Amino acid sequence: MSFQKIKPEELNENVFQMIGNKWMLITVEKDGKANTMTASWGGLGILFGKPVAFFFIRPQRYTKEFVDAADRVSLSFFGEEYRDVLNYCGTVSGRDEDKIAKTGLSLIHEAGAPCFEEAETTLIVRKVYNQTMKPECFLDSAIMEKWFADRDFHTIYIAEIEEVLVQS
Ligand SMILES: Cc1cc2nc3c(=O)[nH]c(=O)nc-3n(C[C@H](O)[C@H](O)[C@H](O)COP(=O)(O)O)c2cc1C
Repeated sequence: MSFQKIKPEELNENVFQMIGNKWMLITVEKDGKANTMTASWGGLGILFGKPVAFFFIRPQRYTKEFVDAADRVSLSFFGEEYRDVLNYCGTVSGRDEDKIAKTGLSLIHEAGAPCFEEAETTLIVRKVYNQTMKPECFLDSAIMEKWFADRDFHTIYIAEIEEVLVQS
């Protein structure tokens, strides 16, 4: 398989379907070791005059240690045939299993980040901002009670989209 590089504004997919329905793998490397996790909270847009992606990671995720240590991360989107892989990477921790080896996905490196040959679309992003959600910032307390009963607030990461790779 080979990739074609396109500009972020040439992406021809509905972001609500991409992130909310297809989900994505957040993949990142630390000390030569890669880990990946499934995420379905996030978005794409414009901030600081740049095309950006944003994603949200709870403190207990092993992936968070990797994201905090890295400059670049990949966000990968797959066809429906990889749904089981995304379910697996979203329920098992890299602390317990080598998820990438178990999925059989082919780990490659593009533009300074680990990513997968099988992905339909890959965004290589560079972190530019992060902040952990605070209870006093919720304007709708019902959302806080629904999602944060354990007060395990996500860290918000905003990252500049440096490369968009699509299967050619
Ligand atoms: C569909 C789906 C979406 C998920 N979205 C997120 C998310 O946006 N943020 C997050 O912190 N965890 C999310 N998770 C949970 C992590 O993927 C899961 O806890 C994973 O096992 C963490 O792996 P790690 O410990 O190797 O980082 C999601 C799980 C699934 C199945």
